[in-house]
Amino acid sequence: MTTSNQHNQEKLSSARFSESTDAFVEAFTASIQFDHRMYKQDIQGSIAHAKMLTKVGILNNAELNDIENGLAQIQAEIEAGQMQWSIKQEDIHMNIEARLTHLIGITGKKLHTGRSRNDQVATDIRLYLRDEIDLILPELNRLQTGLVMLAEREADTIMPGFTHLQTAQPVTFGHHMLAWFEMLKRDVERLHDCRKRVNTLPLGSAALAGTTYPIDRQYTAQLLGFERITENSLDGVSDRDFAIEFTHVCATLMMHLSRFSEELVLWSSAQFQFIDLPDRFCTGSSIMPQKKNPDVPELVRGKTGRVYGHLMSLLTLMKSQPLAYNKDNQEDKEPLFDTVDTVRGSLRAFADMMPAITVKRDITYAAAKRGFSTATDLADYLVGKGLTFRDSHEIVGLAVAHGLKSGQDLSEMPLATLQSFCDQITDDVFEVLTLEGSVAARDHLGGTAPNQVRAAVARAKVVLAQG
Ligand code: ARG
Repeated sequence: MTTSNQHNQEKLSSARFSESTDAFVEAFTASIQFDHRMYKQDIQGSIAHAKMLTKVGILNNAELNDIENGLAQIQAEIEAGQMQWSIKQEDIHMNIEARLTHLIGITGKKLHTGRSRNDQVATDIRLYLRDEIDLILPELNRLQTGLVMLAEREADTIMPGFTHLQTAQPVTFGHHMLAWFEMLKRDVERLHDCRKRVNTLPLGSAALAGTTYPIDRQYTAQLLGFERITENSLDGVSDRDFAIEFTHVCATLMMHLSRFSEELVLWSSAQFQFIDLPDRFCTGSSIMPQKKNPDVPELVRGKTGRVYGHLMSLLTLMKSQPLAYNKDNQEDKEPLFDTVDTVRGSLRAFADMMPAITVKRDITYAAAKRGFSTATDLADYLVGKGLTFRDSHEIVGLAVAHGLKSGQDLSEMPLATLQSFCDQITDDVFEVLTLEGSVAARDHLGGTAPNQVRAAVARAKVVLAQG
């Protein structure tokens, strides 16, 4: 981006002032360095506003034509990297307006009739966020699709399930992947819900009180594809709830990705070896030749903190602002932009990585065999034989203690040994002590049985097809 202090255009609001703005203050209060990112939405909003002004008779068709052509040229200049951004013009809105006036003359100065930068900027951010949400949703869908494919492929793969990171009960790898799918499904729902509130038009609120011109806000909303318009001008210019809400949704999404990252880091370690991450998602060490570091999940885990921070920034930004617009609000953009970049980058990396994950089935199986993961199954078996669950729990505890001493899994103990703990045990016990038997027995909606994983995959595919 080029910025110039010697812009030929005078500062738009300078007539009231008896001295020009201090050079440092000018730079300090400017936002063009970052809000130029919303140029497309600013132009889109201005074209809709100009069309509305024409519809109600404030501009004529020739003026509208000039404005539309001028703005199209400016968009082309920006996209070609030719626009001279000026700190003197403070922000994206005034830079574009000044350039427009330079290009088409006096008509450019009519564009701002019946609006203020306060409702203009509120409109731009909403348009920008709506566009970004519409890019984030397909990326989430791509990641979820990768998870569902992995779940389908690994529906029968057995691994240890953990609580407290201690081996708890065997689960299927597919079931584990679908737990991540469910979390992301809720993130998608939250994003759709947030989009409804983002998709509300504040333009027409003007500076704070509305405007004396006979504007047609419904028409502007229709042109810009907004579902509804804000119903109070003071709220319209000052509300940033939608930005807080979006950042909250993203913070929760990042929290999910961070937990997921943590598992991928653990699972790809030499100690677990449950999975292999493709080389292209890892890096080596500059000193240790054997290293293959899971950088992508580590970075995503690390980047989660930025988004939490942005959420806190935005909440704090708003907490003491009296109505209506205050310059504080200019500080909403950088946290929002960085949230968008962080989430889009993290989702892209994860979605790309998913199909390339290899599961080391023998290793996950062997790991599930260690740690007495079918102990609960034995307790349930004894309940089936008429014991109370508490008594069964006690008996199995003794059997596990024996296994720890003898180095045997429950399934590896001779029947006679098992019977020494409870004489009601018969040789049908070995069916429940196998890992396959254990997972297959949890055959209800939400359970880990391979059948249930396949049914959940089928349901997930329907959800994904709906978008
Ligand atoms: N750059 C400003 C912002 O981001 C635009 C609105 C300025 N309005 C004002 N009255 N100074 O919020």
